[in-house]
Parts: sequence; structure tokens; C-alpha cells
Amino acid sequence: MSSTPSNTFHIKADPPVEQLGISHDLAYNWEYDTDRAKLMRLYENAKRDQWNSTDRLDWSIDVDPESELIPDMGIGIYGTEMWSKLNDSEIKRLRHEAVTWQLAQFLHGEQGALLATAQLVETVPWYEGKQYGATQVMDEARHVEVYRRFLTEKLEHDYPINPELRKLLDIILTDSRWDMKFLGMQIMVEGLALAAFGVIRDTTTNTLLRDLTAAVMEDETRHVAFGVLSLREFCDDLSESERNEREDFVYEAAVLMRDRILNREVWERMGMDPEACVEATMRSPLATEFRHRLFSKIVPNVKSLGLLSDRQRERFAKLDILQHENNTTSDVDADIEEERRYRAGADSVAFQ
Ligand SMILES: [Fe+2]
Ligand SMILES: [Fe+2]
Repeated sequence: MSSTPSNTFHIKADPPVEQLGISHDLAYNWEYDTDRAKLMRLYENAKRDQWNSTDRLDWSIDVDPESELIPDMGIGIYGTEMWSKLNDSEIKRLRHEAVTWQLAQFLHGEQGALLATAQLVETVPWYEGKQYGATQVMDEARHVEVYRRFLTEKLEHDYPINPELRKLLDIILTDSRWDMKFLGMQIMVEGLALAAFGVIRDTTTNTLLRDLTAAVMEDETRHVAFGVLSLREFCDDLSESERNEREDFVYEAAVLMRDRILNREVWERMGMDPEACVEATMRSPLATEFRHRLFSKIVPNVKSLGLLSDRQRERFAKLDILQHENNTTSDVDADIEEERRYRAGADSVAFQ
């Protein structure tokens, strides 16, 4: 594929622009306090670690969308009877569809993150939060930029936003409470993205996709830490009914995210029976393991916020994601240190 930017493919959407009516309270902060030391350290890190995709990434690297860019075992029906019925050219097409679907959802999720973070700058009451949040707005714009570029120049293909992801973004962006925006975006959506990015970074066969994902992950670890640090303080003071409401929100988001990763749209586009493919995916031990790993960052963070009551544990156990509760949380020092080691050239990063 061409290594120079081309305008031959652009993302098609109908309608191209949608507007949502929202209302939330904007918060001035006249004290300009900077005594939330961990948040200020994150802010310093964010300023130091800004990167420019134009010169950091080698966009001349060729990408073959029909090759195993991401291991086939990440495709839901891999290893099932449905997979064994596919011929070589169908497998190539399925790889192209599956990787495009995955990266298109990242692109749409990144736009959601861009909009949610812009809202956080307005609504979060702490000055440190506004200051840090401003760096995240720029980070998210950069993430939209790199996924858009990869899709249009390297895959020359696209997918609309998945209905479950769209529903989750709408819930987050229209809720008037700033802490719900944090909980939905920074803890749930970004927590899942971080785990999914980790799988891609550590398994992709393409250097550009690996470097792009590693660069995005450097930022995303800070973003999840921003959510955990900000909400931990807030959640300490919640009443029982307020806590229950947030637990329900987390559970609803977890169900939407589980359903979004069943790749239904891919099966439809392949002309395969979506119900049969989803059923095969649900039964496949490999795909099940993969889906559960995507919750490896979310569950410990939810627990550290005090949102893992017995009632919630029971529901998480039914979703089969409770086993992650004792993983490390996304505190400033843990995940960011892991990124630092990776960048310093550690052979591999243990996936949790
Ligand atoms: Fe992002
Ligand atoms: Fe993010």
C-alpha cells in the first residue's frame, strides 16, 4: 500500500455529523490549588511525554491487511468448526474485516474520549483536574489522528461505531455528573482499551501497528490513573444509595462492553450467520479467555474505588470477570513504571 498520505479513502458515515443536547454544570475554580501531588505529577509527566505521530511513527512501513496482523486466535470463531470451513481467501478477508472493525472501534472510542475529556475540563471542580484534563484532550486528539490515519491509509476500510459502544458513549456524554463521566470513560472504556491495546502491542506482527499502539498506551496509562486518583477521593464520601447507583452504572457498562466485543457486524459483513458466529464465540474457550482478559484492568480499579460490594461481586462473578479483582490498580506509579520499562527496551511486558 502507498506509504505517502493519500486521499483516496475516506471514512464514510451517514449522517456525517450528529448533535446531542446535553446539560451539565460548568465549575469555575478560583483557588488554583496545586496540592494534589499525584495529579500534579501526572500533569508534569503528560507535558514531558507529549509526542508527535508525524515524526515518531514510521508511516512508510507497509501493512498487508490480509496477513495475520493480529494473531488469528483473537478472532472470535478461531478454532471452531466455523473457522475450519473457511478457505484461504475467506480467512484473508475475515482478517481484513476483523482488524478493521477493531481499529475502527478504537477510533470511535477515541473520539468519545476526546469529547468526554473536554467535558471533564469544564465540570471537574478541582483545578488540578482541569489542568491535567487539558493534556488529555490533546492526547485524545492525537489518538483519533493515528487511528484515522492507519484506517484510511493502511487498511483502506472502515466500520461505523458498534451500537453497544455508541450507547455507552451516549450515556457517559449526556450524564450531567462529572464523576459519572470519569467512571464511564476513564475507568470502564479506557480500562478495557488499555487491556486490548496491550494484547495488540505484544502480539502484532506489524512494526507500525506495534509502535502506534505503544505510543497510545503511554498516554492511556496516565488517563486511567487520572480516573482512579480523582475518583478514589470522591467515592470515599458517597452515601450508600449514591454508591449503589455508581455500582449499577459500572455493571451496565461492563455488560455493554462484553456485548460489543462479539464482533456481530463483522459476521454480517462476511455474509456469515451472525447468531451462529456469536454462539460459537461464546462457546469458544480461547475467545472467552480473550474477552475476560479485557477486563483485567477494570475490575481491580473498580475495587479500589470501593465499588465492589458483595452485590457487585456476585454480578461480576456471573460475568466471569471477578478473578481479576486482585490485579494491581492503575495507580500513578505502577502502570506508568511498566510503560517506562517497556520504552527502555524490556523484552516483554507481562500482561495482567
Ligand atoms: Fe485515547
Ligand atoms: Fe485516553
